[in-house]
This record gives sequence, structure tokens and C-alpha cells, in this order.
Amino acid sequence: MKRLILILTIAFNIYSGYAQQKVVVDASRPIAKIQPTMWGLFFEDINFAADGGLYAELVKNRSFEFDEPMMGWELTAYNDSIGRIFIFRDETKTNAHYIRLQCNVDNTDFGVVNEGFRGIGLRAGNPYDFSILARSIQNGNARLNIRLLNHDGKTLAQTEITVNSGEWKKYSAALTPASTEEKASLSVALQGKSTVDIDMVSLFPRDTWKNRPNVLRKDLVQMLADMKPGFIRFPGGCIVEGRTLLSRYQWKNTVGNPADRKLIINRWNTEFKNRLTPDYYQSYGLGFFEYFLLAEDIGAEPLPVMNCGMACQFNTSELAPMENLDPYVQDVLDLIEFANGDTTSEWGKLRASMGHPAPFHLKMVGIGNEQWGPQYFERYKVFAEAIHRKYPGIRLVSGAGPFPGGEDFNYAWKQLRHLNADLVDEHYYSSPKWFLQNATRYDSYDRKGPKVFAGEYAAHDPRAKAPELKNNWEASLAEAAFMTGLERNADVVFMASYAPLFANAEAWQWTPDLIWFNGLAAFGTPNYYVQKMFSSNRGTEVLPALSNGKPIAGQDSLYISACIDSSTDKGSEEIILKMVNVSSRPAHLDITLNGVKRTDNKAMLEVLSSGDPLAVNSFSTPTAIAPVDKTMDTKGRSIEIILDANSLTLLKVHCKR
Ligand code: AHR
Repeated sequence: MKRLILILTIAFNIYSGYAQQKVVVDASRPIAKIQPTMWGLFFEDINFAADGGLYAELVKNRSFEFDEPMMGWELTAYNDSIGRIFIFRDETKTNAHYIRLQCNVDNTDFGVVNEGFRGIGLRAGNPYDFSILARSIQNGNARLNIRLLNHDGKTLAQTEITVNSGEWKKYSAALTPASTEEKASLSVALQGKSTVDIDMVSLFPRDTWKNRPNVLRKDLVQMLADMKPGFIRFPGGCIVEGRTLLSRYQWKNTVGNPADRKLIINRWNTEFKNRLTPDYYQSYGLGFFEYFLLAEDIGAEPLPVMNCGMACQFNTSELAPMENLDPYVQDVLDLIEFANGDTTSEWGKLRASMGHPAPFHLKMVGIGNEQWGPQYFERYKVFAEAIHRKYPGIRLVSGAGPFPGGEDFNYAWKQLRHLNADLVDEHYYSSPKWFLQNATRYDSYDRKGPKVFAGEYAAHDPRAKAPELKNNWEASLAEAAFMTGLERNADVVFMASYAPLFANAEAWQWTPDLIWFNGLAAFGTPNYYVQKMFSSNRGTEVLPALSNGKPIAGQDSLYISACIDSSTDKGSEEIILKMVNVSSRPAHLDITLNGVKRTDNKAMLEVLSSGDPLAVNSFSTPTAIAPVDKTMDTKGRSIEIILDANSLTLLKVHCKR
């Protein structure tokens, strides 16, 4: 009977054109330990990921510091007889500008309206916290009328503030809109003849991540937390480098009181001529303290990336002279003290004063982003010596340039091997085909050299019909196939992260991106679900998964890796197979698990698939491509499974070695 079934199955497979593979997974011969940092996140302030994104502030240009101080603001009336505004620049303040509102008529409102980051997203019935710095420029009080307006200018919520002092003072109020609105605005207007100065006009949803006032957007952080990331790299990317050294990211400007963090232009503001975003600045409301806290909240190791005395080599390539490198090196040493130093140290004290006396347990720092050429290595060496001298336990991430091969890349690896580097950051933005072909990329890497951080990667599908449609299924599946190769080589690859992470659907500069959002909603791309499936099923050791004695990396369009998770608290271990079928036909697998005993008769499956390589998720169909959970009855160490065409399937079984 068994023979007959086998013959019928083979005949069916041949007839239907299914690929059939025998896969042997051996739990008695683990290949490598998988680092807890294996799958992580790369956050860069690109695509309005910070201001207008993760940072929940809803007012754009809240302190009038943009190069055009009134960008983002309109007057309620352009008529001097009704009212006037004056822009002041006070050089004694870090953020120098404030504005004076002067209403010239009694029984009339005159003021300014903020458009938010391409509209202010409001939810009906939810409270929003408004605050403002103000002083009265007259004898006696002035009254400010604060209103949330819908896209037609109709009032959704309203409150009043009495400015009762001639000294700068913070005033606060709560507003609860009556209806949900994606493109609301905020009006701040004087009532009647009076004059006030205003600054730091702010509006936050009350419902923020962990209910911490005035910090992060809850839905976006939740999506990160759901991925169970092993690390988070921040704040970039090219913004670390700056177009010039003056506009590089300087962490010390991003800590302390948010109102005193000096705003700068975001380098992506003018980077792409076809996607100019003149309103892209960095208020640093999301600064290094908030990044460390975020990492802690979502259980990810923090990986700050620091400027190494080099501006972006795609822009100016400015260099800090070798003899003037000290302030750059000192910035890194001070950052380590800020993160880990005790509360009596200068920078540890600042951390404590911001509400976190306990250290953040920083273990690694990136030196430069994707620098290349001899100038990088001579600078890296100075950083490495100084940091390791003072903090021998800190691991350094060094760059290998922007491309995954070629002269500069090979030169980088040669230098970094010679310098005994810890972790080398490789970047690859390439076609889905490249990702499939590179599933074996790390099989031949030197096992004794520096470890790899696949710090930025994404498949860019040339077949996508528009930039917003690049996060398609074909690209996602190719990334999944490639990631089986990363997992198989976990003895070499210690960390990996997709890039970039976020895109504001109305203000992006770069696609594809992992998570898309607008003022009210967010959705994960198919690529997001691939990342999530890998990172929330990381396992603790890689197991060999072989077909005919070879790793499965493209034979019959299949890519398979296996690992075991010994960290479960369920009294057993879990074998996890990650199986990618890039064929347009299903695949039939006969899996044998060696070196284990099954502890139950069920297998859990998570399947991500689509029949359309160009399919994407969207705001209206956010989970068109999302994992489907299934269970399968299976006994013993042999498991037969049919993989869907064009699918990523996770198979999980409980066992004991
Ligand atoms: O992820 C977008 C950009 O790509 C990063 O800023 C940079 O590191 C790379 O060139």
C-alpha cells in the first residue's frame, strides 16, 4: 500500500510538474550559534521617518526655525488692518526665532494656522495635548483661541488660553476632536485687540507609545516591537555623514530639553531633484535619548552610528583633517559615557536628569556609515584605538562602502581584515535576481575574519510600475530566499537589517521601504512580513538542511534553512524550517528530521504567498499579503509537505534532542 501511495505521489508530481526534494535536517550537528542580534532594524530619518513619522509631534516648524520661518504656517487674514505678525530672531536662544502676533481689531480673531506634516491626523474622541510658549506684550492678559480644523476649516475642537504674563511661560490645554480627520490643521489666534509673542507651538496625541507624554507614535512603535528585533541601528544612513561636515548628525544637539535642541535641515530635503521636500528638517524631538529608550522598550540592542570625520562621499566628501579628528572621537567616547556611564559622570548625569539613571548597556557603535577609500581607514584606525583603549568591551561596526563588490569593497575588506575589525557593514540595493543569486554569498566567506553586518539591503524590482509599488511580492520573496543564506551562515553573519524602515506616504524620498504610514494609519509591506517571520522565529542554532548532501540554495527554485530554538520555556525545543519556493508551481518536500524525538504530533505553519509577483499591500488592503497560520498533523521524524507556488513557509515542530 505504502509503495502504491509513493508511486502515485511521484506520478502526480511528475504530471503536475511539482519540484520534489528530499530534505534532511540534522539536529545532532548544529552548524553555528545564531546571535540574538541576527535580525534587526535600521532606522534612518529619511522619508519623514522621525519628524512627521515616529516622533508624534503634529505641528511642523513648531519653533519657526526653518530657513523660511513661516513655512508650514498661514495667517488667518492677510490684512494689516486686522492683524500683523513679526518674526523675531533672538541670538541668545538656541532656536533663535519666535513670532509676534498683533491683532488690531476688537471682537476679531487673528493668528496663524499650521498645516502639520502634510495634514494633521486626528481621531474622534481622542484627546490631543496642545502647548505653547507665550508672553503678553501689553498691560494685562491676552486670550488665545486654539482650534483644530478639518480640511474645510470647520472647527473640530476648540479651547482658550489666557496669556497672563509678560514673561515667557508654557501654557497647555487639551482638545478632543469631534470627528476623525486625516488632514486637519491647528489654528492659534488672538481674540481681540492685543499682542503676544509665541514659540514652540506643539500638539501631540495623548495616546502615545507607553503613554509617555510627547514622544513616539504608538502604532508605528508597535509594528517595530512586533518584529522582536535583535538590534536597532540609528540615526542613519547618510544623515550621519551630512552633505557637509557642518550638517552632519551631532548627537549632543539631540539631548536635553526638546525646546533647546538645535534644529537643522534634513539632508534628504534637497537630495533628489525629482522629490524635493523643502519642509524636511530635524527638530531632534526624537534624539539619542529617545533612540536608546526605544531600543530598550522593544528589547533591541542599540547601535548608534557616528560620523567619522567624513561628509557624504556622494555629496561633498568633506574631510576633517587628521590632526583635527579629536572632537569627532571625543563625541563617540562621550556617547558611550552618556549610554553607560554612572550618574556622577558628566554625560551619565545628563542621562539620569532626562529620566534614566540606569545605564542603557550600549555594546556596539558604528564608525562612519558607508564610507570608502583610504581616508576612511586612516580615520577608522584612530577611532578604534581610542575607543578600545577606554572601552575594550565595545564592539565597532565599520563600513565597507555603498556597494557589495568591486574595487572599493575589496579594498575595504582587505583593510578591515588587517585591522582586525569586529563587524563589517555591507549594503546592497539590487534586483530580486541579484538576491536569489547571492543566497550563497556567505558560504565562502572567511570563517576567521571579521563578522558581517548586512546593514542595509532591499530588493529593488525593475518591473515595479511606480516607485511606490516597489515593495512587491517578487522583491519580498527574493529577500526571503537571500535571508535563508544569511541564516545558514550565522557563524559569519551576526546582524542584518532591511533598509529603509519607514516612509511617509506623502513625503517619501526613497523607495522601497518596510513600513508605510500616513497621518492616521500604517501598514506593513510584504517585505515587512518576511522580516517579521524571520526575526520572530530566530532560533538559537543553525542546523544543516541538505538535499543530496548540499545546502538548498536555488535547486529547483527552492531556498531552505533550518534552525533550532532551545530557548523556549515549553519544556521542549523547536525546529524551525524557513522554506522559500520561488517557482510558479508548488513544491513537494519529504523532510527527515534526524537527531531528535518529536514531543507532539502537530506542526505549526506560517505561510506567506501570493500568485501575483507585482502584488503589494496598501492602506486599503494592508494585509493582502500577510502570513497565514496553519497546523498540520504529523507524526515521527518524516514530514511531507507541499509548498505553495511563490511562497515563504515556516514549519515549526516541537522536539527534544
Ligand atoms: O537607506 C537609504 C540610504 O542608502 C542610506 O542613507 C545610505 O546609507 C544608503 O546609501
